Amino acid sequence: MKKCNYRRGVAAGLMLLAGGAFAGAPENRAELANMVIQDCGSCHGLTMRGGLGPPLRPDNLKQQSVESIAAIIKEGVDGTAMPPWKPLLTDEQIFWISRQLKSGALLTDETKDAR
Ligand code: HEC
Repeated sequence: MKKCNYRRGVAAGLMLLAGGAFAGAPENRAELANMVIQDCGSCHGLTMRGGLGPPLRPDNLKQQSVESIAAIIKEGVDGTAMPPWKPLLTDEQIFWISRQLKSGALLTDETKDAR
C-alpha cells in the first residue's frame, strides 16, 4: 500500500478540478469515476479498502445513508485529512459519488476481489 504520495495526487487532482474539468458537467461520469479512484483513492485506497482514510466499500458504508455520506464529502471532516469537496464538486456530482460508493459500482470485478 503506497501512502507516501497522496499529497501530490491530491494537489494534481485539485489543480485539474480547479482548471474547470468538472465545471457544470455532472454527466461526465467517466472522469468523475476516475477522479474517485485516483483522488479519493489516494487516501482511501485504490480499491477503497482504506489507507490514510477509512475503507469506503459498500460493507463499510452500510450504516450510513447516501445523504450522510454526501454531507461528509461535501463538508469534509474537521481536524482530519478529509477535505471538503464542495468548492470543487456540485451537489449532483457528490450525490452521484455517494451512490456509487454505497453500491460499489465503481469497483471493477478485479478490485472487488482484490486484497
Ligand atoms: C487527503 C486524504 C483524503 C482524501 C483525498 C479524501 N479523503 Fe475521505 N477521509 C479521509 C479521512 C482521514 C477520513 C476519516 C475522517 C474521520 O476521522 O472521521 C475520511 C472520511 C471519509 C468518509 C467517511 C467514512 C465513514 O466511514 O464515515 C467518506 C464517505 C469519505 N471520506 C469520502 C471521500 C471521497 C468521496 C473522497 C474523494 C472525493 C475523499 N473522501 C477524499 C481522508 C481523505
